[in-house]
Parts: sequence; structure tokens; C-alpha cells
Amino acid sequence: MRKLLTAMLMALMMVLTACGNEAAKSETPAAEAAKPTTLVAYFSCTGHTKTLAENVANELNADLFEIKAKVPYTADDLDWHNEQSRSTVEMNDDSVRPEIDGKVDNFAQYDTVVIAYPIWWHQAPRIIDTFVESYDWNGKTVIPICTSGGSDIGTSGSYIANLAKSGTWKEGHCFFAKTSPDEVKAWATGL
Ligand SMILES: Cc1cc2nc3c(=O)[nH]c(=O)nc-3n(C[C@H](O)[C@H](O)[C@H](O)COP(=O)(O)O)c2cc1C
Repeated sequence: MRKLLTAMLMALMMVLTACGNEAAKSETPAAEAAKPTTLVAYFSCTGHTKTLAENVANELNADLFEIKAKVPYTADDLDWHNEQSRSTVEMNDDSVRPEIDGKVDNFAQYDTVVIAYPIWWHQAPRIIDTFVESYDWNGKTVIPICTSGGSDIGTSGSYIANLAKSGTWKEGHCFFAKTSPDEVKAWATGL
């Protein structure tokens, strides 16, 4: 009798486990299909690039990742009139790599990564150098975009592409400081 009960219990457990596996199998492909394959990673100190990145992510149905400095930038740090300010000192030294707080989860899931940054002294801030050197860009399409007070994207995109060493880097685009969702839409449509 005891043996019979044990055998019945084991059979029941096998049926339940099989059902569980079937449920997991049928959930996986749908969940996979729903995952965005585009990431918009952005760095922003005064909000312009953040707004741009949000509009772009919305347009491309992409995930958003904020590139946050471990030591946040203060208003004094951003004073470009001051030769001793943190931003000026960093931009004058191309070996500086400000630390980033956090990492992109599941970076491998993305085929396309848009990197959004403000122009600092005609280049991307050094923290973008840290970002691009922290990941493997092999097999990814990468699109640099920026905001600025008037300068164009210039050589900032090709500079960080060189640091990244791999990936297919598209020509970037500068949106200047204030960008309308319509301008972003027009750009995204042309991608
Ligand atoms: C340190 C520093 C340097 C800058 N250098 C330039 C520049 O070379 N050319 C330009 O057009 N704007 C320059 N700007 C203006 C920013 O690119 C612009 O305000 C940008 O939209 C700021 O983005 P954010 O609000 O996302 O931080 C500079 C701003 C800072 C703080």
C-alpha cells in the first residue's frame, strides 16, 4: 500500500513538473519577442540631453539607460569659463575616465545602441569615453547623437567610435539644446 502511494505521488509530481515546463516554454518566446532590441543610453547634466533621449526612446520603442556619474557634476563643475573647473580639467586630459554608477543590464540583448550626450568643448564628455570602453560593441549598430549650444556633432562620434574599437557606427546627429518631438520623429523616420 505504502509503495503504491509513493508511486502515485511520484507520478503526480512528474505530471506537475511537465506542465510547469510547458508553461515556461510557451512564455519564453513571447517574452523574448517583447524585449526591446534598441537601447538609448544618455548622459545629461542640465536636462537637454535627457529630454532628447526620452523622445528618441519613445520614437524607437527602446529601453533607456542613464549614464550617471559616481560623483555627480555640480554647477561649479560645469563652469566652462573656469580653467580649473572639473569639466575643463577633464576635457583637457583625454586619459580621464570619470566613474559610472551602475551598468546596463543584459547589454547583449540590444542590436542597436543610441548614445546621447551634450557637446563639451566640441567633444563628448569624458564619461562617454568610460561608457564606450566598458562594453563590447561587436555586432552592434551604434548611433551617436548630441545636444549643444550651437556646435555640430563634429568629430565627437568618430572619436568615441575609435575608443569602442568595434561595432558598426552610424553617422551621428546633433539636435542642439532644445529639441521638439517632431524633429526627433523626422530624424528617427530617416534612420
Ligand atoms: C563644460 C561645457 C562645455 C560646453 N561646450 C560646448 C561647446 O563646445 N559647444 C556648444 O555648442 N555647446 C557647449 N556646451 C553647451 C552644452 O552642449 C549644451 O548646453 C547641452 O545641451 C547641455 O546638455 P545637458 O542639458 O543634457 O547637460 C557646453 C556645456 C558645458 C557644461
